[in-house]
Amino acid sequence: MGFNVGAESYDRFMGRYSVGLGAQMADLAGVARGQRVLDVGCGPGALTRELVARLGPDAVAAVDPSESFVAAARERNPGVDVRRAAAEALPFADGEFDAALAQLVVHFMADPVAGLKEMARVGGVVAACVWDHQGGQGPLGVFWDAVRTLDPDARDESDLAGAREGHLAELFAQAGIGEIEQTVLAVHVEHESFEEWWEPFTLGVGPAGAHVARLADAERERLRELCRERLPAAPFTVTARAWAVRGR
Ligand SMILES: C[S@@+](CC[C@H](N)C(=O)[O-])C[C@H]1O[C@@H](n2cnc3c(N)ncnc32)[C@H](O)[C@@H]1O
Repeated sequence: MGFNVGAESYDRFMGRYSVGLGAQMADLAGVARGQRVLDVGCGPGALTRELVARLGPDAVAAVDPSESFVAAARERNPGVDVRRAAAEALPFADGEFDAALAQLVVHFMADPVAGLKEMARVGGVVAACVWDHQGGQGPLGVFWDAVRTLDPDARDESDLAGAREGHLAELFAQAGIGEIEQTVLAVHVEHESFEEWWEPFTLGVGPAGAHVARLADAERERLRELCRERLPAAPFTVTARAWAVRGR
């Protein structure tokens, strides 16, 4: 999957976009002082940090299957109960939390409906978001578009769970979650140079990083140059949109 990587690599590749979603996700879930909440698929802790700022470390728990991310999330958020676990088997009792949030995680779950059911079991409110990979409006749109131009058979992220309009809400409904509300979240990230945008793709993070790692040198160079042609002159801003759903 490409998540057994160092936290710094993640920060430079996807963390630069996901950090801007944290406050929006906490607002969507209605996170407020006095609550106890769970961050599912916390990664190195982009959303965890926002939850701690709002509630304090004792009121926040987090899980992720990646050992390196669990270690980083613990180090970055002292006092938070960070455990190595997957959404599909949460190591918590029924109703232990007021809310369970999954930021950019549902599309990586082995069984998204089972994962959402588990989130509903342990929390009252369930909130999740997934980049609009199918509409090409996520942060990797230019990259996957260039990949498909060079290799029409390449598998991108557009058919992953929740990556097309309305699908995340369908998954919530299949998990038996009610009071479903859908919205779109957006982040804007400025890139000072093409190199600063491209280099993190070579760090092996996520499906995009795994794709680049599989390429021969010449193929990687062609992909890099096609991305350069398609991006605006630096500095440029990437606006990334995510489908987001809340229910209970
Ligand atoms: C794109 S990252 C998002 C990390 C973090 N939430 C953020 O917003 O930066 C996806 C995360 O989902 C985790 N993940 C993959 N499969 C999972 C599962 N079945 N249950 C929970 N987390 C999972 C990965 O280890 C990775 O940390």
